[in-house]
Amino acid sequence: MCGIVGCILKTNKAAPVLLDCVQRLEYRGYDSVGIATCSSSGIRIKKDRGKIDEVSQKLQLDELPGEMGIGHVRWATHGLPTQENAHPHTDCEGKIAVVHNGILENYKELKDRLEREGHHFTSQTDTEVIAHLIEKYHKQGLSLEEAMNQTIDKLHGSYAFAVISSDEPNKIMGVRKESPLILGLGDGEYFLASDAPAILQHTRKIIYLADHETFIMDDEGVTVKDRDGKVVDKKIENIKWTPEMAQKGGYDHFMLKEIHEQPKAVKNTLFEVSEIEKIVSKFPEFKRITFVACGTSYHASMVGKYLFEGLLGLPTDVMLASEFEFAADALDPESLVIFISQSGETADTLKALKIANKKAETLAIVNVLGSTATREADHVIFTRAGPEIGVAATKTYISQLTCIYLLVACMGRKKWLLEQLQNIPDCMEEVLSYEDEIRKMADKYKDSNDFFFIGRGFSYPTAMEGALKLKEITYIHGEGYAAGELKHGPLALIDDEVPVVAVVPPGKSHDRTLSNVEEVNARGARVIALGASDDDVLNFEAHDMIKFPPEISELLSPLIYVVPLQLLSYHISVARGIDPDKPKNLAKCVTVE
Ligand code: M6R
Repeated sequence: MCGIVGCILKTNKAAPVLLDCVQRLEYRGYDSVGIATCSSSGIRIKKDRGKIDEVSQKLQLDELPGEMGIGHVRWATHGLPTQENAHPHTDCEGKIAVVHNGILENYKELKDRLEREGHHFTSQTDTEVIAHLIEKYHKQGLSLEEAMNQTIDKLHGSYAFAVISSDEPNKIMGVRKESPLILGLGDGEYFLASDAPAILQHTRKIIYLADHETFIMDDEGVTVKDRDGKVVDKKIENIKWTPEMAQKGGYDHFMLKEIHEQPKAVKNTLFEVSEIEKIVSKFPEFKRITFVACGTSYHASMVGKYLFEGLLGLPTDVMLASEFEFAADALDPESLVIFISQSGETADTLKALKIANKKAETLAIVNVLGSTATREADHVIFTRAGPEIGVAATKTYISQLTCIYLLVACMGRKKWLLEQLQNIPDCMEEVLSYEDEIRKMADKYKDSNDFFFIGRGFSYPTAMEGALKLKEITYIHGEGYAAGELKHGPLALIDDEVPVVAVVPPGKSHDRTLSNVEEVNARGARVIALGASDDDVLNFEAHDMIKFPPEISELLSPLIYVVPLQLLSYHISVARGIDPDKPKNLAKCVTVE
């Protein structure tokens, strides 16, 4: 949801560096882009609506003078994606420029007051008030830092912003509150970004800012202060992610690369078992488990319910983070509340985490080191998927699932489960080798307008996740449904125009889902079945079948059966001429409620 970057360099090359940094952050928003640099001739800005490559070609974003500057990629919240609304935004005189990620809830009243005082606004954004407020206080005689602090006192909402001013052309200042912001320390050069992949090629020495911390960077270093203005001695983390991990590595898209990285993501996450054992050893006896998450992470949580109830006999709820506050009153204090989030910055999830922290023990399963969720939860488990750039979650879903299986195995002392998990990476490699077949299938079905995805038990979350992938990157309507529910309404929609993807691994749910396949077949649907290679009856019923090694049990099937569904959506997306890495209206990290 918008990405901000900034740098102070030793050379006059800030603009090309900022352009490179925003390009690496494009997964956070791609409605518009802008860069501002500051030099002896003042602040210069280039910005426009559109994807970064288009805008850069048109405006030559990398051709601005200066050793320092700020940049922004936008996911529009206030105001249409237009040139005027693109960041950076400035004060009346163009002497202060700001980039911002977040939402200012009280911007209207601030803007009205500033306009009455004579300030002239040029955009419909909430962000512009920051530049004008700093201008106002600076003109009253406060230093830029004091003016920024006064401004922060007036803002309600979430924000990470960075400011430059031609009055102090060697400095970048900023703050973080409820929106991610990191600082990077290079060799006499300094960086800031919403997320680490933006600056990995320059430094892996990172400072994670906490809420309400402000920073000032100049060519001598970085100072961080708390909300009372006291200097904070921040820990410098050396992150293990490499620049290569955040590049396409020969694949056409990040999403495809990330799908193929899944066996490795599982392997790396399996190494977390000893950390998980340590965490589990500190647990009291829980009476209930509650999972809270959004989107794909919610689907991983659904698998968690079947595992905790089925293998540990622990009653388990799964809640959408955005709905959590409406039901949290009944939270059992003897519950463990598990938050699943790739980014650790999803606004809905963080809000729910704050509520749960007051009532029960919390555990966050997160991919991004240093993210807010990792600082707020009582316990943290890291998924070891590496950076995920494609907007559609793939390898991080698989790593989340792996963590949940490991957690259940450790809490229930199920050694057999740990052993079975070791086979998953090889099975996954085998399934990935079906890609050509799936590409052909994608060609066959790419023009359909609606899909259904059905499954029962462990296969229900797989169906939901298959449908979500289809919707977000192909723009085709896809519905994930519990197979048994079809006859209670949606069957009315089934005809020969609607492909039905049926997830039917061998196991308890098999025969009943097979009956549902027969029901949709009888209504003329084209069935794409996912099942064991020796399942002849299913093969007979299906128009197309994706065949899996028969030894993959229903219990482990969520880790494997979802992989061809990711590939199917990916290839349909490409066949329809869509960029699967940057689906319209979406952003990787949803930092607004
Ligand atoms: O970072 P999180 O896991 O908290 O994000 C939650 C959802 O926004 C995310 O899973 C979203 O649904 C994905 N783009 C789906 O592919």
